[in-house]
Amino acid sequence: MALKPLVILVFVGAMALMSVAEAQNTVGIVHVNGTLYCTADGSPGPNETATPVFSNAAVQVACSNDVVFNSPSNATSNGNGVYLVVLLPRPSPSIVASVVSNCRLFVRTPLSTCNPSLPSAALVSSLRFVRSVQVGFAWITYMVATGFTLQA
Ligand SMILES: *[C@@H]1O[C@H](CO)[C@@H](O)[C@H](O)[C@H]1NC(C)=O
Ligand SMILES: *[C@@H]1O[C@H](CO)[C@@H](O)[C@H](O)[C@H]1NC(C)=O
Ligand SMILES: *[C@@H]1O[C@H](CO)[C@@H](O)[C@H](O)[C@H]1NC(C)=O
Repeated sequence: MALKPLVILVFVGAMALMSVAEAQNTVGIVHVNGTLYCTADGSPGPNETATPVFSNAAVQVACSNDVVFNSPSNATSNGNGVYLVVLLPRPSPSIVASVVSNCRLFVRTPLSTCNPSLPSAALVSSLRFVRSVQVGFAWITYMVATGFTLQA
């Protein structure tokens, strides 16, 4: 009787699952990385090599809407100001878009920690997709901060 609609439904369901699996496969885990500088907006300024870095800063990516398994995900900037936060996104048909729209990168350690003349405030930035790279059977998707602003 209702065999045809059922077959169509199963077929549509299988297509949806496949596209989810495919989206997950080409995104994999997300690496959010960069270098923090000890400036009013955490950016290098005009002379990158002359700008002091912000070491030992607590960095965190926090997401709304449960798009990432391990949110909030934490890291600390190293002696060169370099940080790497790893995110494990939940499968969805548009993982990159949902991570970009739901997740923010925070610098929780106040700027004044690296230079007392800077504000005693945290920083926040949106994320930007850079590229997805295949590593063996897995994928790594790179994202970076779009630019920090002081967090009120
Ligand atoms: C982030 O990591 C990638 C891959 O290791 C590297 O090519 C890139 O230069 C890093 N970005 C920053 C801002 O450190
Ligand atoms: C940047 O700073 C370095 C180290 O202080 C200096 O050697 C270099 O000349 C500066 N570059 C510019 C373009 O000002
Ligand atoms: C990151 O740190 C916060 C506290 O600032 C903690 O609640 C959270 O569980 C940590 N995240 C992970 C993945 O350990």
